[in-house]
Amino acid sequence: MRTVHSLLILCSIVLFGCKKDKAPEVINCDQDISFASKIQPMMDTYCISCHQSQAPILTNHSDISANATAILNSIKGNTQLMPLNGPQLNDSLIEQFNCWIQQGKLNN
Ligand code: HEC
Repeated sequence: MRTVHSLLILCSIVLFGCKKDKAPEVINCDQDISFASKIQPMMDTYCISCHQSQAPILTNHSDISANATAILNSIKGNTQLMPLNGPQLNDSLIEQFNCWIQQGKLNN
């Protein structure tokens, strides 16, 4: 019983302890991410205050899809972190953006 308990604790530490460090390169995008209900509102909320005049312009689907890789790198903080001056978007938003790219940057 004791061993099982320790094992459970160990597993939790391994599973959750490392989670933060792992940039999810390939993630499991179970759900279709809708551009209209997820991606456009994300850009409108966090980015458009600057990026309707500041390059890259991120106002619509064609702008956003053309800059998708740069956007992903910036929200992950791989390049200069965006939104500028933070705070960084939460993991779930970053993951949604990543999935939307993997699903073909649809205008859905
Ligand atoms: C407070 C204003 C502001 C906000 C909000 C903001 N940005 Fe930026 N962004 C800038 C400025 C200014 C630059 C140019 C920075 C530079 O060249 O050093 C920039 C540059 C970029 C670049 C180009 C980076 C590169 O490496 O070429 C991308 C992509 C970008 N922003 C994406 C975003 C995204 C996505 C969001 C929302 C999550 C966002 N930005 C929010 C001001 C902002």
